[in-house]
Amino acid sequence: MLKRTHTCGALRKSEVGKEATLTGWVASRRDHGGLVFIDLRDRYGITQVVFNPEYGKELHEKAGELRAEFVVAVKGEVRERPPGTVNPRLPTGEIEVYAKELNILNRSEIPPFEVEDRANVSLEHRLRYRYLDLRRPTMQHHLIFRHKLCQLIRQYLDSQGFVEVETPFLTRSTPEGARDYLVPSRMSHGAFYALPQSPQLFKQLLMVSGMDRYFQIVRCFRDEDLRATRQPEFTQLDMEMSFVEEEDVMAIIEGFMAEVFEKLLGKKISLPFPKLSYQRAMELYGSDAPDLRFGLTIKEITDLARESEFRIFREAIERGGFVRGLNAQGCSTFSRKEIDELTGFVGQHGAKGLAWFKVEDGGLSSPITKFFGQGLQAAIKERMEARPGDLLLFVADREKIVHQSLSQLRLNLGRRLNLINNEEYCFTWITDFPLLEFDETLGRYVSIHHPFTSPKLEDIPHLEERPHEVRARAYDIVLNGVELGGGSIRIHDQALQQRIFRLLGMDDETAKKRFGFLLEAFKYGAPPHGGIALGLDRVVAMLLGLDDIREVIAFPKTQKASCLLTEAPAEVDEQQLKELGLKLL
Ligand code: AMO
Ligand code: AMP
Repeated sequence: MLKRTHTCGALRKSEVGKEATLTGWVASRRDHGGLVFIDLRDRYGITQVVFNPEYGKELHEKAGELRAEFVVAVKGEVRERPPGTVNPRLPTGEIEVYAKELNILNRSEIPPFEVEDRANVSLEHRLRYRYLDLRRPTMQHHLIFRHKLCQLIRQYLDSQGFVEVETPFLTRSTPEGARDYLVPSRMSHGAFYALPQSPQLFKQLLMVSGMDRYFQIVRCFRDEDLRATRQPEFTQLDMEMSFVEEEDVMAIIEGFMAEVFEKLLGKKISLPFPKLSYQRAMELYGSDAPDLRFGLTIKEITDLARESEFRIFREAIERGGFVRGLNAQGCSTFSRKEIDELTGFVGQHGAKGLAWFKVEDGGLSSPITKFFGQGLQAAIKERMEARPGDLLLFVADREKIVHQSLSQLRLNLGRRLNLINNEEYCFTWITDFPLLEFDETLGRYVSIHHPFTSPKLEDIPHLEERPHEVRARAYDIVLNGVELGGGSIRIHDQALQQRIFRLLGMDDETAKKRFGFLLEAFKYGAPPHGGIALGLDRVVAMLLGLDDIREVIAFPKTQKASCLLTEAPAEVDEQQLKELGLKLL
């Protein structure tokens, strides 16, 4: 067998006159009056190979058999391309290999789609034949970039004294708020392992063990509704540190991000990242993961709307709701159709309607202007910092709906009005989250992050009296409107942890059953500790400028959490079920 001497991305003019052997896949074949041209592809690049009939009939006939995706080894002479045939888009574009020997190592059926970057193929098809999809240079670039990031993570965290430790996959439920993936036990019928939603409890136990600084690039499993930035199994860069406060954890992440941007993107980012309280983020952007590349902030007009004669506003306020809106600057030219479209859009996010005013020299113009007196119109104009030519858009509803619909409308307008600079990276820390939120369906408080998050020390005294006012020592890191990660300073005191469990409606018995091991560990000298986890798939996607994390995962799943390649999940044998002591309903 011919052994390769160079990769398909290696040869340059300096090798002209030398012999070279290349291996790879046939990317394309062209016949030009006897001369056969092959583009040979491997992970490293593409090289043009020429078969000349003068070099032997047999060789030339064999070259004629080549089709897309055949695997070959070719030996030949490196030659300078004739003038006018140089390809400046290829690093190897100044040379070609004149073949003298050809081994067909394997043939390929006609592939279901062209392995070519610009080929327009449905995602379903790509996932079904993922091994071919991954042959594309773009996809290889994504995986190699991800690999480089992982190398950098290990190098950087090692330099900061972090130790990589693996934690179990077959474990108990870890409450991160999603549904668990369960694995039935063969040894103990009726008992189940849960795949970890995160290594949260193990990393805290490692702090009790004195590991001081832990990290892991680790798979997490969550059975939840999927979107572009969510997969049922995904990867976290998970970290935990002892004897730290919020600032220490943030400093590590900021140092890491600066290194990543410099080494992988050749960009400088400014440190430290700005901080925004949860409350302020919700007020201004209606979201705890705001895109700060543009302004267009939300403004409150509940107090003014209450004075109006507009029934929809007044009734929403009487029911405890709010009226808030956005000033779409210069958009008074929007047609009724465009405004109807926006109304439909906020409707998808729960709003019952979208009230609007066009700002004119004299006042406001809209079918509902008649419900607003002159003074009120002037006050609204002032509050919205409106100028003639602007379009004011308002939603009246429960606070949650107002937040949801206006935050989405803000993003929609930001894109529509070209307010977003795609070259810009705006990081922010979101801080001062509430510790708990009341879940109407469960009829009790639930943790906003997870139950191991420490309350702010000054809020601990009124934990039981005013649980909704208690703030958490938690922080999220957000980049351009995407939550990249989140973490907190933890509870390290057994009694406080138990108080939190009680607040979450868990009696001592249940808490002991589920988390007894943690409470027990806290009795044996738990250091103060805290940490964070970044969604690695999201980080890679953001750095590459991609929206969908499936583009940076080798074998991702569909919206329905199935793998189109292996057809998982799949039925199992009766025998397997029997061994596990399971019966299907
Ligand atoms: P959290 O639940 O916020 O925190 O998760 C951390 C980060 O993981 C990413 N992420 C996901 N990425 C892809 N698909 C998913 N389904 C998915 N779910 C979460 C997000 C998120 O910010 N144990 C805590 C961390 C800690 O407190 O230290 C935790 O898991 O980018
Ligand atoms: P209607 O009286 O239903 O024709 O509504 C008058 C205007 O109020 C329309 O522009 C609706 O889109 C808008 N509207 C209806 N409900 C709301 C709401 N909850 N918040 C804001 N605007 C609304």
